Amino acid sequence: MEGSLLRVQLAGLSLDYPGMLASGVLGYSAESMFRVIKGGAGAVVTKSVGLYSREGYANPTVVQAKSGLINAMGLPNPGIDVYVGEIRHVKALFCQPLIVSVFGYSAEEYAVVAKKAAEAGADALELNISCPHVKQTGSEIGQNPNLLSEVIKAVKDVVKIPVFVKLSPNVTDLVLLANVAINAGADALTIVNTLRAIAIDVETTMPILNNIKGGLSGPAVKHVALRCVYDIREKIEHVPIIGCGGISNWQDAVEFFLAGANAIQVGTAIGYHSPEVFQTINQGITKYLKRKQFRSVNEIVGLSHRR
Ligand SMILES: Cc1cc2nc3c(=O)[nH]c(=O)nc-3n(C[C@H](O)[C@H](O)[C@H](O)COP(=O)(O)O)c2cc1C
Repeated sequence: MEGSLLRVQLAGLSLDYPGMLASGVLGYSAESMFRVIKGGAGAVVTKSVGLYSREGYANPTVVQAKSGLINAMGLPNPGIDVYVGEIRHVKALFCQPLIVSVFGYSAEEYAVVAKKAAEAGADALELNISCPHVKQTGSEIGQNPNLLSEVIKAVKDVVKIPVFVKLSPNVTDLVLLANVAINAGADALTIVNTLRAIAIDVETTMPILNNIKGGLSGPAVKHVALRCVYDIREKIEHVPIIGCGGISNWQDAVEFFLAGANAIQVGTAIGYHSPEVFQTINQGITKYLKRKQFRSVNEIVGLSHRR
């Protein structure tokens, strides 16, 4: 019963549960992603992978903020040619959808990485065009409508699996960029990546992060992320939206569904709680749906928009 109440069809993927692991948190190894699936996630998104290996920034790369984290990891990853081994390992370990997060420094690079990930067995891709702390990629691409469109078209040309596009909240007109992404062929939108932020040590008088600035996540960003989902759903009815940002309990998740998300992602809360946070969220949503006499989580998507 619980399974059918919570089942979600998303851009051609079938999820037993509506919660996914957000990129960059426990999404490195097949084993850690399997832990998250056992904890009640319906799908997992990997750490963002590029064409070549990157070490990432020197420490400190993460600062504890009030109600959240500020991170500037610098997209550490082994490069797609090594990471395909991990993708194959995941496919041997569990059958829930695996979404590989991809980044690059040009449309061609995104396409090469995407093709290799798809050939290795990814069920979908998530284009990271929203990382706020690495130059010449991420949000530098995602806030430029022409580049954004070029990247998505290049990827769509070489893969047949669904392509999610993860947008940044650090823009003036998010709905415009959402429309650009959809027109270029995005099958779903992940809303949102982290908010640009900084922390300063009053004793040293200097910024704490090695990269100076980073991205804020966790409860501190929830209401901004929720507003971003609401804004897009208000203007665009048909696109699947995956809500992300500060979700740590079932009430947060339900708020995102009501704002218009079809599924959700959880990142920082896994560190605060454990991968079992997904089970707690699933149980809470189920009780809520039964209490309100809804037959499916799909019935509450966008409900807050009715007048
Ligand atoms: C330590 C850390 C690393 C992250 N790495 C990535 C990444 O590699 N790619 C990406 O698209 N987002 C990355 N993110 C952003 C998350 O996927 C998510 O969009 C953001 O943290 C908001 O969700 P949350 O509040 O549930 O964590 C990272 C977040 C954190 C905290």
